[in-house]
Amino acid sequence: MVNYDLEFGMQQEEILTDQQSIWRYASLLPVFNTSNQISLGEGNTPLLTLNNLSTKYGFKNIFLKDESFNPTGSFKARGLSVAISKAKEFKRKKCIVPTAGNAGGAMAAYCAKAGMEATVVMPIKTPSIFKEECKLYGADLILVDGLINDCAKKVAALNINNEFFDVSTLKEPYRLEGKKTMGYEIAEQLGWALPDIILYPAGGGTGLIGLWKAFKEMKKLGWISGKLPRMFAVQSSNCAPIAAAMNHSENWQTKFIPSATIANGLAVPFPFGMDLMLQVIKESNGGVCIIDDDAIIIGLKEIAKTEGLIISPEGAATWMALNQLCTNKVIKHSESILLLNTGTGYKYFENL
Ligand SMILES: Cc1ncc(COP(=O)(O)O)c(C=O)c1O
Repeated sequence: MVNYDLEFGMQQEEILTDQQSIWRYASLLPVFNTSNQISLGEGNTPLLTLNNLSTKYGFKNIFLKDESFNPTGSFKARGLSVAISKAKEFKRKKCIVPTAGNAGGAMAAYCAKAGMEATVVMPIKTPSIFKEECKLYGADLILVDGLINDCAKKVAALNINNEFFDVSTLKEPYRLEGKKTMGYEIAEQLGWALPDIILYPAGGGTGLIGLWKAFKEMKKLGWISGKLPRMFAVQSSNCAPIAAAMNHSENWQTKFIPSATIANGLAVPFPFGMDLMLQVIKESNGGVCIIDDDAIIIGLKEIAKTEGLIISPEGAATWMALNQLCTNKVIKHSESILLLNTGTGYKYFENL
């Protein structure tokens, strides 16, 4: 992980730039030379209020951090902007990634902008738009019959000679730094305050871990005070390794049988960052919630009809999880709640 020399009391005016992207937080990101920043205008996404759903179900306040506004339509743009910028700083020419879909498109786009070669390894059963966008951005696309863990094996085999800059989730520290900017933005959009609860659709977990890292950095800087949000990971019932790890701890992997889900980004059977995710959940007094594909579709349609937003199935899962957690009295309707919509729903029509 990247650590910074943060001093308590450093003023926001000294640190924040006036760029309308994640590069507003450039001093808190690990790219040294501004000429290496590869930007497509990522970040600075809206914090919407789901007032129709709040009224309908009696919530005080539900925010939606809407990451569908990012280049390539997902929050993956933040991490890939930083990782590809760093690859440029390291003078690397070729990048590779295993992906459930969105990270591949984002990497391909940032490599195109940086003039680098991109190789994307993706499960064969991914909606075709995720494949087509990679090809349009000029990437080499390799399809694998399996889930993202099988794609990761393929990447390791292809990169045995370290020919590529490998941006596999959490195997390098830079994507996490890009993702953490969501945490800074949320605090800034709420007037340097945070909600009581955050629900995040967790696959490999960079968003969850990144948000938490941002909150801790902001505490160190003295930009926020008080209790940090309780962090809830939302998973698909087809692939819920965090729940398995929490329930069976040590030997969960031997009994675990994952399968694909319509929320492609949640099909991450053996996340490399499991321990870090568990630590965030424990430290924040949060939890995990499992939602099945049928419920995800119900949630997605309800948000479209009620709020006028076609969000990703991953994002829709957080809305269904909120209902479940309220029914189980884990979360109160009176708390301030933030759902993360990690991507656009427009790429998933084939799944619906
Ligand atoms: C739309 C969407 N949401 C959530 C996730 C999960 O993200 P992470 O692996 O960073 O936890 C992904 C990953 O592909 C995704 O594409």
